[in-house]
Amino acid sequence: MSISKREFARRRKDLMALMGSNSIAIVPAAQLQVRNRDVDYPFRQDSDFYYLSGFDEPEAVLVLLPGRRQGQYILFCQERDKDKELWHGYRAGPEGACADYAADDAFPIGDIDEILPGLIEGRDRVHYAMGKAPEFDRRIMDWVNTIRSKARSGAHPPGEFVDLDHSLHEMRLLKSSAELKLMRRAAKISARAHIRAMRTCTPGLNEYHLEAELQHEFMSNGCRKWAYPPIVGSGDNGCILHYIENNSPLKDGDLVLIDAGCELDCYAADITRTFPVSGRFSGPQRQLYQLCLDAQLAAINAIAPGVPWSLPHDIAVKTITRGLIKLGLLKGQYRSLIEKGAYQPFYMHRTGHWLGMDVHDVGDYKIGEQWRELEPGMVLTVEPGIYVSPGNTRVAKKWRGIGIRIEDDVVVTRDGCEVLSADAPKTVEDIEAIMAPGDAAV
Ligand code: GLY
Ligand code: MN
Ligand code: MN
Repeated sequence: MSISKREFARRRKDLMALMGSNSIAIVPAAQLQVRNRDVDYPFRQDSDFYYLSGFDEPEAVLVLLPGRRQGQYILFCQERDKDKELWHGYRAGPEGACADYAADDAFPIGDIDEILPGLIEGRDRVHYAMGKAPEFDRRIMDWVNTIRSKARSGAHPPGEFVDLDHSLHEMRLLKSSAELKLMRRAAKISARAHIRAMRTCTPGLNEYHLEAELQHEFMSNGCRKWAYPPIVGSGDNGCILHYIENNSPLKDGDLVLIDAGCELDCYAADITRTFPVSGRFSGPQRQLYQLCLDAQLAAINAIAPGVPWSLPHDIAVKTITRGLIKLGLLKGQYRSLIEKGAYQPFYMHRTGHWLGMDVHDVGDYKIGEQWRELEPGMVLTVEPGIYVSPGNTRVAKKWRGIGIRIEDDVVVTRDGCEVLSADAPKTVEDIEAIMAPGDAAV
């Protein structure tokens, strides 16, 4: 399962239509990052580059030239090299870039300084995401200056730089059916990983044992990469939003919060579940958990085309505030507590973000001053949380150190929404059932 060549071609065509004629788009690939001495971090392609090419190698540059008769799509990439390939693995080379990735023309990356200025020359606008890679920014300016230096002999340097992100990211925000298929699969695999962690969990193990179970499920389903480092936080660690140490013992009586999702063909899942280490919620844990779940369900229930981006968050905040008053963690009048943002010590992040190739995916949240309206094909997370700091002496002791987040991946459909991650259990009853000793169902 992956994106077809035809879909990659359609993306390039759509982007070129938005760019207009007499322009050029330049998109560099991601670079390998050194981990230590001769060891690199696993390579992850730049999402914009991959979205337009499906080409998964470093040391490459994609160029689009709308209307160019000799070919509109050019790739610069590493040349084939027997010795280097023996050590570091297969390269497509310029031949493969044309044959397998549909480039109209492809050149060795080492020739880019000679060739690219000639392609920029005569184009009025350069579409490029300036400011992300300072070294590449400088090279772009060098190529443009090469043309400027020849202006007296008739060269025509570009007069305008346009931020490529805006048009490209609007395209990425609306997912095609092939993209949704991948995201559905990534969410399914991730949901199974959460179930596996719930089933394995028992007092005496360590947080990293659960991380190992997540990885096992990801990898054995063909996802060798996670979408972000998994968070496995038990007890007080559940109140640290981006806890990734994952090295504390799992204690009877504590909750454990797992925020983990795999990446499939560069598409992310992002799921959080919180469950009792012992398999049974205590009274206070159950009450706060149910409140967080009520907020999440109410927020999801509001998702439909035409709804402003901010609505699920507003609903979650209202539900949580009301519930915290009822349980005695907040004191005062509902209206004034909402106005003061009194929930913030317990709920300090927003209810979601766009999800796609990047876990915090691209796309504007506002159009001008207004929150944008949801449209079919947009994918967002819904992830309210309630975190009672262990040091919060303003609330009864029984609440302290409880950290809960419940996060699902939701696609806006024509008549509402679909929860991509629905396979991961989240009601108190379902979680307790799945963790009950002797439960063998998968
Ligand atoms: N896993 C990162 C987030 O939930 O936003
Ligand atoms: Mn998230
Ligand atoms: Mn998450």
